[in-house]
Amino acid sequence: MSVDARYKILFEPVDIGPVTAKNRFYQVPHCTGMGWLRPNMVADVRATKADGGWGVVCTEYCSIHPTSDDVPFPTHTLWDDDDIRAHRVMTDKVHEHGALAGVELWIGGSSSPNFLSREAPMDVVSMPNWNADPYQSRAMTKSDIRDLRGWHRDAALRAKDAGFDIVYVYATHHYLLSNFLNPTLNTRGDEYGGSQENRMRLVREIIEDTKDAVGDSCAVAVRFAIDDGGGQDGAPVHADRMEMFEAMAELPDLWDINVENYALEMGASRFVAEGSLEAHVSKAKSMTSKPVVSVGRFTSPDTMVGQVKRGVMDLIGAARPSIADPFLPKKIEEGRQEDIRECIGCNICYTGDSRHYPTRCTQNPTFGEEWRRGWHPEKIASKGSDSMVLVVGGGPAGLEAARALGQRGYDVMLAEATRELGGRVSAESALPGLAEWARVRDYRLGQFNKLPNVETYRESEMTLENILEVGADHVAIATGATWRRDGFGHTHEVAMDPLPPPENTFTPDDIMAGRMPAGSVLVSDDDRFYMGGVIAEKLAENGNDVTYLTPGSLASYWTFYTDEHDLVYERLTEAGVQIILNRGLLSFDGAQAVTGCVYTGAQETVNVDNVVLVTCREPRDALFHELQQAVDDGVEGAPKTVQCIGDANAPAIIAAAVFAGHKYARELDCDKRPDERVKVDRVLAR
Ligand SMILES: Cc1cc2nc3c(=O)[nH]c(=O)nc-3n(C[C@H](O)[C@H](O)[C@H](O)COP(=O)(O)O)c2cc1C
Ligand code: SF4
Repeated sequence: MSVDARYKILFEPVDIGPVTAKNRFYQVPHCTGMGWLRPNMVADVRATKADGGWGVVCTEYCSIHPTSDDVPFPTHTLWDDDDIRAHRVMTDKVHEHGALAGVELWIGGSSSPNFLSREAPMDVVSMPNWNADPYQSRAMTKSDIRDLRGWHRDAALRAKDAGFDIVYVYATHHYLLSNFLNPTLNTRGDEYGGSQENRMRLVREIIEDTKDAVGDSCAVAVRFAIDDGGGQDGAPVHADRMEMFEAMAELPDLWDINVENYALEMGASRFVAEGSLEAHVSKAKSMTSKPVVSVGRFTSPDTMVGQVKRGVMDLIGAARPSIADPFLPKKIEEGRQEDIRECIGCNICYTGDSRHYPTRCTQNPTFGEEWRRGWHPEKIASKGSDSMVLVVGGGPAGLEAARALGQRGYDVMLAEATRELGGRVSAESALPGLAEWARVRDYRLGQFNKLPNVETYRESEMTLENILEVGADHVAIATGATWRRDGFGHTHEVAMDPLPPPENTFTPDDIMAGRMPAGSVLVSDDDRFYMGGVIAEKLAENGNDVTYLTPGSLASYWTFYTDEHDLVYERLTEAGVQIILNRGLLSFDGAQAVTGCVYTGAQETVNVDNVVLVTCREPRDALFHELQQAVDDGVEGAPKTVQCIGDANAPAIIAAAVFAGHKYARELDCDKRPDERVKVDRVLAR
């Protein structure tokens, strides 16, 4: 099949030094929460992307030496021969699909407390650890710098042995090399500090060392922030870094351009639009003859083509879009744009890194499960019987279960109580900044158009009797969950007593359904992820006088792990929301909210007209229990199996609901025992 003429440019090969990428689809370095701990899982993550058409597939950041260990972050390492063998698993598989493999050699500097190796961290000067671990770096001596150059060179040689085609010099993200470039931090008095030329010296030397060591067969890429910070409003601040870029513009084989502000570079869709680095990247591109790659949550082929044609970049870099859809390039190549599972910009994938567990994705439930469960993002086993399956509830779990069951060939009935499919995804995507989240629904509804065996029934609330009448062989109950209005949660281990007056008490479900309070509001955020903050923002937009209260030490605490926290704080402050931290809501009588300090218990009162309780959710599982009883009792019309999935089973993030729906579909009629279904990846002692 020939590629649509509009997109042909995306499939042109690009020379990168001594190697050639077969097309412009470039998976930039991104963590997986697997790293050196789970080499088989991560190898299959990367191999799947190569299979999906990415021309270049890179590792996550990869430590060159034990003086940079980022434990407990599960990074990669290239310290010795064992590491070479582990990486070989990945590079061989990536090469099988005709893609290039890249490795991002990493020197942590003061950011690595070296919890594993217990080596003292080294950096440009003696400075604190950026994660506030109480370990400070020592200032590097010139002999340290010589050692470091040797270690980087050795790691580059090991990378070549491991089969990598592209070797990175990682000079951004506040790690050691970018600290040397930094005019504020680099106060050294020797030839590595002070003037711009001196601050660039180490990066320049390391680029030259790497080219000298492996440049005959490997391309040398540099990841580099092009601005001097700021740029939050989209206005680039280009001065010192740009001048340094100009001075080094022709040194490496490839520039991987990003910006100082990580929350902008890896912007969540709540705050940052697709392709928002254009102003930064195009400047860099205009100053070098070397190929440039950059990022921007690119999921639209038209946007990608625009970037290439306007000369913004040569290669379309992607981390999250390649996680959400490893087969994105192939789908464009085959003219199947409507099948692209677009990233929603929720940054749940990043929590794998920040919380040190294998990465998961809201849109792609198979991510990370390629090796251990044998799940492929596009392929699935055919049905195991001619059974008919009823899925009750059209939220993220129900939609994904119905889609994947339909893909397996089952006859599926999807019954949704309301007029609109999507459940919580539809409701939440109407909240400020969350519009892209509707892609979770829209991708699945788009797939239903291709699955005549999946029938959807809206406004079809199911009772036990209705289900028995349908007589399905299997039933999945995916009826979601309801935000509680009795205060039960972290602050109250039982319901509040007395309950706050119902006419002045609201939950996120009320706000999402359009039941808005009049007057002042206190949003009590026991939940601590995005919902409390988004509701506060919505109420401020509505004109309410809003106070946001949380027992957490940060507003929307868990958004720290999705790297949105700074932006959340800024947004709430700009919206005029008053933020109260470290306090829980003890009681509310319709006029006064009594709050308690989580440490001392000291009480304070806030005069307010209403409260919104964002505490926790109650699974809607009554129907499941009724049906399970009917199954146990052998009632006529009862299905062979019934399973409760998603939030109706255990409320959690949307990614967990999608995963539950997918798992249900994969495992229906599966003859393997649950303990046989998941392989365990281990680093074995030699
Ligand atoms: C889960 C995750 C892990 C990441 N890990 C790294 C990393 O190890 N090294 C790095 O340079 N950038 C890392 N990044 C940043 C990405 O390379 C990229 O710049 C950013 O996600 C923006 O690109 P995107 O819009 O295509 O996601 C990571 C991003 C994500 C989402
Ligand atoms: S978890 Fe969210 S942000 Fe990350 S790739 Fe998946 S959809 Fe995109």
